[in-house]
Amino acid sequence: MEKYISVQDIENAALARLPRNARDYYKSGATEEQTLGENRSAFRKLRIRPKCLIGVSDCDLSTTALGARVALPVGVSPTAMQRMAHPDGELANARAAQAAGTIFTLSTISTSSIEEVAEAAPDAIKWFQLYIYKDREVTKRLVQRAEKAGFKAIALTVDTPLFGIRRADVRNQFALPGHLKLANFEGMMSNKINSSSNGSGLNEYVRDLFDKSLTWDDIAWLKSITSLPIVAKGVLRGCDAARAARAGCAAVLVSNHGARQLDGVPATIEALPEIVAAVKKYNVEVYMDGGVMTGTDVYKALALGAKMVFVGRPALWGLTVGGQAGVARVLDILRTELEYTLQIAGTPTIADITRDMVRHESEYAK
Ligand code: FNR
Repeated sequence: MEKYISVQDIENAALARLPRNARDYYKSGATEEQTLGENRSAFRKLRIRPKCLIGVSDCDLSTTALGARVALPVGVSPTAMQRMAHPDGELANARAAQAAGTIFTLSTISTSSIEEVAEAAPDAIKWFQLYIYKDREVTKRLVQRAEKAGFKAIALTVDTPLFGIRRADVRNQFALPGHLKLANFEGMMSNKINSSSNGSGLNEYVRDLFDKSLTWDDIAWLKSITSLPIVAKGVLRGCDAARAARAGCAAVLVSNHGARQLDGVPATIEALPEIVAAVKKYNVEVYMDGGVMTGTDVYKALALGAKMVFVGRPALWGLTVGGQAGVARVLDILRTELEYTLQIAGTPTIADITRDMVRHESEYAK
């Protein structure tokens, strides 16, 4: 894996290797894919302002999330159907997160089950991403299985009443290859996605099964069936972050679902400051994902107030090129780049990365 020097190298190799159905599913954003590009380019508009002669011998990348110590502030976001990337799928991804001492988030619509992941990576800090189904009994069983299997939080996805339009999936009539299934389910709910009648099979699945009547009031229901902390994943407005806090969520993950839901929404690094400001008076943590490709991206998000940063696609690209070793390489590159950044910027620990370490490019143009 050493030949890959950047996350971009790994992405390029993965895109060249994946079959079209999976490649397009993993890489696509919603409709015109404006936000998909901006999730990345918005980081470039921020400038890091290094401090000199600080003394950086004791560099430390560790931090905490929901009370657990993590070795680096970069975790793995939930992405569906990872066995299209590698036969070991989610198991390999979770093992890499475990080895790196960080968080692995398992998607509801995964191709390895909650129990399989728990067994493969018993010491990883595991979170379970939840989609709420119309069938609340089905939903409740998922949550209770995750809790029983040792998962430490429920990341409730709040940006998905339905799936966004990803044109390539419509063109390809995306369906999960026949040898794979949605491993957390049985019967129709596990194999409904193996075929599509017209357009994207995934969108049909979501339309038929997810509960789009969901409101903030349903957090109370979720809290009534689990004692795990809840992370509201997919918030882009300060007022929603405050609502999540008032509803009893322990954290908010600023995310636009990898630009896959609605095109034209803000890049997540742009939305982050509004959300950090909105929850200042509440005791909630703020995380972000979307477009993170380098250690300096991670640094900028931390400076703007994120406690953790997560990566979705980069882990999929690592999985594609080398299974567990590929994801490990992605996390290792991000760790090394972040470590360099912390030292050269004169902020040797995570706590040293204050808001003033970053400025928007427009402030230099004045
Ligand atoms: C996702 N994402 C996602 N989110 C979620 O809550 N449940 C899911 O099952 C999935 N599945 C999924 C599949 C694929 C292929 C992608 C690319 C994304 C969104 C994911 O958790 C995360 O928010 C983004 O991937 C972050 O952006 P980057 O890191 O991919 O740029």
